[in-house]
Amino acid sequence: MTERVLTGITTTGTPHLGNYVGAIRPAIAASREAGVESFFFLADYHALIKCDDPARIERSRIEIAASWLAAGLDPERVTFYRQSDIPETTELTWLLTCVTAKGQMNRAHAYKASVDANEAAGEEPDAGITMGLFSYPILMAADILLFNAHRVPVGRDQVQHIEMARDVAQRFNHVFGAGKDLFVLPQAEIEETVATLPGLDGRKMSKSYDNTVPLFQGGPKALKDAVARIVTDSRLPGEPKDPEGAHLVTIHDAFANDAQRASFHADLRAGLAWGEAKQRVVDLIEAHVGPMREKYEHLMAHPEQIEEILLLGARKARAVATPFLAELRNAVGLRKMVAVAAPKAQAAQASKAAVPVFKQYREADGQFYFKLTTADGGVLLQSQAFAEGREAGTWVKRFKQEGVQALAGAPVALAAGVAQADVEAALAALLAAQE
Ligand code: TRP
Repeated sequence: MTERVLTGITTTGTPHLGNYVGAIRPAIAASREAGVESFFFLADYHALIKCDDPARIERSRIEIAASWLAAGLDPERVTFYRQSDIPETTELTWLLTCVTAKGQMNRAHAYKASVDANEAAGEEPDAGITMGLFSYPILMAADILLFNAHRVPVGRDQVQHIEMARDVAQRFNHVFGAGKDLFVLPQAEIEETVATLPGLDGRKMSKSYDNTVPLFQGGPKALKDAVARIVTDSRLPGEPKDPEGAHLVTIHDAFANDAQRASFHADLRAGLAWGEAKQRVVDLIEAHVGPMREKYEHLMAHPEQIEEILLLGARKARAVATPFLAELRNAVGLRKMVAVAAPKAQAAQASKAAVPVFKQYREADGQFYFKLTTADGGVLLQSQAFAEGREAGTWVKRFKQEGVQALAGAPVALAAGVAQADVEAALAALLAAQE
């Protein structure tokens, strides 16, 4: 069976070199493996949670789509789409919301971090926190479960969200599956082999630290300028340098083959100047990224081509999502009205089966008795003893013909704990069932 691999990219920023090495490149490589079916999407609904600047949302969607396509994502091979083109995602979000415990959402790291920040600042705990942020993990669960993804490659910070998706899936399966698993339980996949790329200052490359090297934006000049700002130690040209722990080297190695790596390390130990080393890093990255940048720039100049690719992706995605959502709607009871005919017939059957019964019998004492029981055997009415079976039979016959009316003066007693009204209802049901 082919494995479904799915991941979303929140469309708030412009991809940098760290995104390329840490996410784009390994994801595209994985999508080329045999036996996997990949779903990649622009998580633009998630972007709305973090960003209320429409121009930035618009631009980031284009830049990210262009970056992935330029980096070699093959839209024929993978399903590449925008989250917001799949209305089934928001529909499923609601179905999942209705089985998600609020307490579990209270424990989501992203939400808790915002609450902690508010409390540290002396604010109300929920100050500035939208329902979008609070429900973020449910939207993400819908992204994943809608396509029954087996594996979800994510950063470490997203692992809790995948666990929440599993929990919600399990609960939904339990409540609505009727013994069948509607959802596959997804597995988070963290790329252990992919190093997080350090930024200019050696901390993780991240927009929030403002220490990034652009991937395509700004052309070769922006790349060169950024690399020039990478912090190194102050060893002079000719002085031996330690390649271990120099983040310029880590960045270099992320693009180098074994031979290039070995010679770069050896040259640094032999005293290569940092300035020259940086030029080699620029050349190496440019050799890798330059051809992609051409494609990127072409796409940026022709967003209508990206639009077309994404709409095609949405069509592929919806070919999976639409029938599946119909199944889910049916599972929760949102069904075509004609279907209620069946439950009604069942109810009639059920009430027939639930009709109370009279039983005649003889005890060890040799006397004859009868009793009225519910369909499942609970005693409602107990007769006194009769010397002749015939007498018992006559009473039973009367009850069956007259129902409640036969009760007055009959040689019977209510069973312990049974109310007169229950017996009357049972006799009425018995009468009705004979009609
Ligand atoms: N929340 C993820 C992030 O910020 C992006 C995302 C949205 C995602 N939906 C997803 C990732 C579904 C994997 C699967 O990185």
